[in-house]
Amino acid sequence: MEPDLHDLLRSLRVWDPEVTELPPLDPAAAPGEPLALFTRWFAEVVAAGQTEPHTMSLATADAEGLPDVRVVMLHGADADGWSFATHAHSRKGTHLAARPYAALAFYWPVLGRQVRVRGPVEQAPAHESQADLHARSTGALAAALTGRQSELLGSLEDLTHASEAAWEQAQRAPDTKAGSWTLYRLRPDEVEFFQGEARRRHVRLRYRWTDGEGWTRELLWP
Ligand SMILES: Cc1cc2nc3c(=O)[nH]c(=O)nc-3n(C[C@H](O)[C@H](O)[C@H](O)COP(=O)(O)O)c2cc1C
Repeated sequence: MEPDLHDLLRSLRVWDPEVTELPPLDPAAAPGEPLALFTRWFAEVVAAGQTEPHTMSLATADAEGLPDVRVVMLHGADADGWSFATHAHSRKGTHLAARPYAALAFYWPVLGRQVRVRGPVEQAPAHESQADLHARSTGALAAALTGRQSELLGSLEDLTHASEAAWEQAQRAPDTKAGSWTLYRLRPDEVEFFQGEARRRHVRLRYRWTDGEGWTRELLWP
């Protein structure tokens, strides 16, 4: 018998005190710019045992403005922005070509935290994309070399053949360029930090960038 989805949903809770700690967020003590707080929060969730904290939802919109979202890996966050890598010809790649603007969401349940980042996106220069890829694993290179991301796949056998050839090439020639593999950088104009609170008085601290003024901090109703 199929499980009853609604029974399951009713049985679940978020932020079970046995597995979740909800640290306070004091806006007055927050750093003046979001990268410092992101870095601090990231280190804290890693220390608290959050699994895969470097995965994030990436939302894009197509030329008509219709949204889509998927999970990708965070490759870095620094003064140049939050970076991720993918194929320029994938669905998200064509979205970003049509509308170079995106949003990211991180969810770190171990400390009841969410971070949202939005802003314009740029492609890194090709040599940086390749350097970023070649600093990663053989599997990452093989996946990038397999290519054709988001195209229709005829059968799993087709994937196996293409992937085996890509693995062989990645192992034999680890400097091979993966043509459409591209590093993107999202330079935020907004970053929101959400800290869950047991009485649902969640703290939402938003950093907003304006040219001339720099970062402003503001609180939002939860
Ligand atoms: C944990 C996880 C990490 C992923 N990381 C990436 C990534 O870094 N780059 C990427 O192109 N796809 C990544 N994917 C696959 C994407 O979610 C997605 O299936 C793929 O990029 C195609 O998306 P698109 O059709 O919207 O372009 C990841 C998937 C998961 C579940």
